[in-house]
Formats: sequence, C-alpha cells, structure tokens
Amino acid sequence: VSDHAAKPPEFLFARGGSELHVLGRRFVRSFQRLLRTAQLHDRRNEALLRPLHELEETLDALHRFDSSWQVRVRNDYLHLCDERLKVEADIFPSYHLVLDELKRRGVGTLGLRPGLGEDGLLAFVHLFIAAGRLPAEEDAFAHLADRVREAGLHGVLLERLEEATGAGSGGHLRNVRHRSVLAFVKALCLTRDVLTAVDRDHVVNIRRVKRLVSSLVDIMNVDESVLLALTNIKNYDDYTFNHSVNVCVLAIATGRRLGLSRRQLGELGLAAIFHDLGKVNLPRDLVSSDAPLAPQEWTAIERHPVEGVRKLVQIKGVNEITNKLVVSVFRHHNNVDRTGYPPLAPAEEIPYFARIIRVADSFDAMTSARTYRARNLGGIEAMEELWCLAGTLYEPAILKVFVATVGIFPVGSVVQLSNGDVGVVARNHLEAEDLARPVVRAAARWDGQEIDPRDVDLRETPELEIVGYAAGPGAASTVLDLLL
Ligand SMILES: [Fe+2]
Ligand SMILES: [Fe+2]
Repeated sequence: VSDHAAKPPEFLFARGGSELHVLGRRFVRSFQRLLRTAQLHDRRNEALLRPLHELEETLDALHRFDSSWQVRVRNDYLHLCDERLKVEADIFPSYHLVLDELKRRGVGTLGLRPGLGEDGLLAFVHLFIAAGRLPAEEDAFAHLADRVREAGLHGVLLERLEEATGAGSGGHLRNVRHRSVLAFVKALCLTRDVLTAVDRDHVVNIRRVKRLVSSLVDIMNVDESVLLALTNIKNYDDYTFNHSVNVCVLAIATGRRLGLSRRQLGELGLAAIFHDLGKVNLPRDLVSSDAPLAPQEWTAIERHPVEGVRKLVQIKGVNEITNKLVVSVFRHHNNVDRTGYPPLAPAEEIPYFARIIRVADSFDAMTSARTYRARNLGGIEAMEELWCLAGTLYEPAILKVFVATVGIFPVGSVVQLSNGDVGVVARNHLEAEDLARPVVRAAARWDGQEIDPRDVDLRETPELEIVGYAAGPGAASTVLDLLL
C-alpha cells in the first residue's frame, strides 16, 4: 500500500455544520445532562440549576429556529425536524443515551414548547424519570402521557413510538448494533463514575463493573465489529475514561482469539478497565498532554502502576480483587525485553494478562490524539510501529493475534480503492490470509464526489485493492456516522 496517496475528500472529516445539526447536538447534550443530574439529585438541589438553564436556552434557540420543532425516533436514529441527526463523535454517548431513554418509554416524538417555563420543564423531567422506573410490563408511554396531562403540562408534545414492523434481515443487525453501542456507552459512563469515585475515595461497586465487562464479553461473542469500531472514536471529552474502555474491548477481543475462557475474559477485561487507575489523581493536563514531558513529570507517570495497585486494594469488595487483577495492573508497562516500569525482579515473569494489555494499551494510546506524543497515528501507522517493536516491547505471539483482531486496516480507517472509491473499513475478516482485504463501506470518489454508501467486500472482489489510506484522526464524525 502506498503511503497516503492524496488528501481524502474533506467531507469525510467534516462535522454537520448546519444550524439544525448544531441545535440538535445542543439539545441531545443538554437534555441528557439534565436527565442525569435529576436522577442523582432531588428536586430542590442546586446542582440542577445549571443543566436546567442550559436546556431552557437550547429550547429557546430551537423555538426560534422552528417553532414546531420535534425530536423523533426512527430506525434507531434521532431526527430533528425530520432530518436525521448525525452521530457526531463529541455527542456520541449522549446521543445514544437519549435515544435509549426515549425508546424505553415508548416515546417516538418529543417536543418541548417555551410556555412550559422552568417549573414545567423540571416537572416533566421528573415524570419522565419516574416513567422509566416502571416495571417492564407496564405501559410506560401511557403512564407518562397521563401524568403529563394531569399535571397540565400543555407545552409537552408526546407521541407513541411506532415500532418498525417487518424490519426483515436488517432488524437483527440493527439490534446487535444497538446493543453493542449501548453497552459501550454504559461502559463509558460507569468507568467515569468508578474512576471518579476512586479519585474522591468514595465507595466503588466493583460488582457493577464486573457485570458490565461480562456483558461486553457476551456481545463480543455475537458480533465484535461494532465494539471494535467504537474503540476508534478518539475525540471524546475525556481521554482516560475512553482509553480504559477501549483497552478493555481490545484486550477482550484479543483474549477471545487467544482462547481464554469466559471467566478469564471477565478477569482480563476488569484488569484492562482498571489498568490506569493509578492515573486518576494525576493532573489532567499531565495525562492528556500534547507536549513532551519534563523528567519529574515522567517520574509521576512512571509511578502510576504502583499507585494503581495501591488504589485497587483499597476498593471495597476485596473478594473480587484477585491476585491476577493486581499483578496485571502492576505490570502493564513491562516489556518482553524486561525493560519498562516498575523494574522486574531477576526471575520475575510478566503476567500473561499484562502482556495482552500492554499491546492493546499501546495501540490505543498511539491512535489517540492526546497522549505523550505530539500527534496521533492512524491505525495503519500504529500497526506498523507495533510490528517494529515485536520481540522488544511486545510479545510477538500476542501481537500477531492482536493484528488479526483489529486488522491491518483497523475498522474506521479511511481507505482508497483501486477503482477510485473512498470509504471506511467496516469489518475485517477473521482469516489471516484475508487481513488485507476487509469490507469497505465506500461513500465517495477520491475527487470528493459523494456516492450512496455501499459495502465492498474485498475478499469477494479480487480485482479491487486498497491503494491508499488517510493517516490521522481515524474515525471522524462522518466516518462514525457511516459505520453506525
Ligand atoms: Fe498505563
Ligand atoms: Fe493506558
């Protein structure tokens, strides 16, 4: 493959810039923030004020844009004023949480009119939350609509979700995608909660993390491509939480191919989620710094495996904290040539899980924008760099399986085909001989002309080849939108 042949079409990296998309992003973000805050605090809490005002301002702006605006759920996407909202990377978690909250209550259309005022809005949010806590056999939508009517909240527009019928073969795929995305988003939220709690010395419910890791393992047994694609979205707000979940997904996927049992995968995933636990107390700009680090900053960084173990053993529920978990966290920066930190004792071996996490960790760090390096690498470049260090930093046998898992062209890479089509790698084949021939979702011509997205399976089309790729930010918003 030639080095990145030319600049790929701009639109593959562009955000939805229209006013509608900007407003849609704002709505999704502020609605989710208020829901989340209202679930955690009671009605009179001050913490509610900011998200409440934020949502109010957004609703005003929406009203000025289109006084009959509404948000609709259709085919697992959110629509604003009948236009599908792009699943942009920065709102990706909120987007899917809002989608899920609406679907769970059977809400297909939601509109909030300015007449509601602050009190009305807050009253609605609490009714909405209450409807989500009903047992599954209750009709949450009817309940919500009744309560809203009783409360006289005339500014709330609600319509029942019409379930897509006769979805055919697409239905199952959508279902798998939806489950995977939701599990990933929940993993992100829980990881944020847990790491923040550890940071503040609060009690941590490690059982919930275990359950979550098991659900990721189960989903991966059905289909791993969506979860792997999600590890490619690098521009969320907070590096450490994303990184922890990414490394967890990458480690589990690799562990599966290495033949680990379900129980072992659970343990490996847990170690991966916690591998950088020792970093939670470090200053944020140190962890996500773009600049080269000063010597004393490196010392602080190099302490994080030790610090991680110290924090881990303080977590309640000691039964769950196995020896394996502890040593995996402790040794995740040791290399097969016995360098790395903390120094190895003469006869000490690097634990197997730590060696798997070492590879997944490096790959995710290399492909993320905010790490110790000045610039993030594209997946393909990162793979090359990992290969150069096989046998020095990384265990070759594990690295080989890792490449087979993620692919030579990781899911989400932007590639150019020999017929001039440009697209995004959507799926890799399991067989080693087909690693360079993934399924590509073509979406444009190299000159920038957009085409209707279509999947090209390079294994089935020997006449086509990947002739170039775009280095850089990996899955940007449109790429993400194409894949999910
Ligand atoms: Fe680390
Ligand atoms: Fe890490």
